[in-house]
Amino acid sequence: MSGSSDYRGGFAHFMLKEICEQPQAFRKTLQGRIQQDRVKFEELNLTRAQVEQWRKIYIIACGTAYHSGLVGKPMLEEFLGVPVEVEIASEFRYQNPLLGEKTLAIFVSQSGETADTLGALRQAKNKRAATLAITNVAESTIAREADYNLHLGAGPEIAVASTKAYTTMLIVQYLLSIYLAQVKGTMPGEKAARILTALQELPEKVQQILDRKELYPEIVKEIKNARSLFFIGRVLDYYIAMEGALKLKETSYIHAEAYGAGEIKHGTMAIVTDETPVIAVAVQKSVYEKTLHIVREVAAKGAPVLAVVEEGDTEMQKWAKQVVYIPQIENMVSPVLAVIPLQLLAYYTAVARGCNVDQPRNLTKAVTTD
Ligand code: G6P
Repeated sequence: MSGSSDYRGGFAHFMLKEICEQPQAFRKTLQGRIQQDRVKFEELNLTRAQVEQWRKIYIIACGTAYHSGLVGKPMLEEFLGVPVEVEIASEFRYQNPLLGEKTLAIFVSQSGETADTLGALRQAKNKRAATLAITNVAESTIAREADYNLHLGAGPEIAVASTKAYTTMLIVQYLLSIYLAQVKGTMPGEKAARILTALQELPEKVQQILDRKELYPEIVKEIKNARSLFFIGRVLDYYIAMEGALKLKETSYIHAEAYGAGEIKHGTMAIVTDETPVIAVAVQKSVYEKTLHIVREVAAKGAPVLAVVEEGDTEMQKWAKQVVYIPQIENMVSPVLAVIPLQLLAYYTAVARGCNVDQPRNLTKAVTTD
């Protein structure tokens, strides 16, 4: 690499550097937080009475951070037995939401400075909800103003398109679910232990995906000239699909939309053709067959399908034009792995199209005005 890339650690762009830093970032995020099959946060010391009083939880954020909340919600609900709503901050703050002392409002923000997320936080505090921030900048306004603050520890993120902050947001939310369930006494022991084991496997398994990154310049040839494409998946795979579509739009300026795989039949199928590649995430075992069914339908319309599946899968290659394999892992944690190929697709597509990868047009790293 040329001298000018030295400050990017030898990488051509910050985005690639930050994608490749994920194994180290995960180790940092997890450091000291798993001890003898239990989660420990230095920053949090909640009592059972506090956690028990929360009858509703909100996760509030913007952009990529919002997508992380969608993945965080199911585990929180399952482990705590409390309903969780995930809200876009710029909508939430104008909806006069029902918040009070029996609510925990969680604010997720890489920068800790996003104006709408901060506005929503101040509103929640005014309504006496308990507030917890998850940020990557410990001294940020959101981190300072919330009652509690959990640090991502992802290290500085420079590229506008968020990558390592997103995956560490997922990890912190998994840890938080287990922590709150421990305190409340609702922890499903065996499942939590499986998840904690999986979390510790993540750095090595992400590295395996990154070790194959040289394949992507070839893979993206199928999508780099598309004017429009679709990402599909179900449940957790759908939330990853949403993040994949956002990443591609941000970096490559290709119109991309994500659908719950079943929902694409309700209208959008009319514009699925051989000119609209479909990227299918099919990792969640409980809905695999259902997603496969839709893959067959879009392939029958001529759409070139690029699928992300777990290693060992032999079915998808019969229908998809290209298949990317990720290592097997506990299903609930799999979004952390499944999103990595989507980050690489966005990056290499942007490079192939000659886009300004680290500084996409019209975008900024933190939107600090309303
Ligand atoms: C901007 C960035 C996005 C980010 C969003 C929320 O739009 O370009 O990458 O997801 O803000 O930022 P935050 O710092 O609150 O996570």
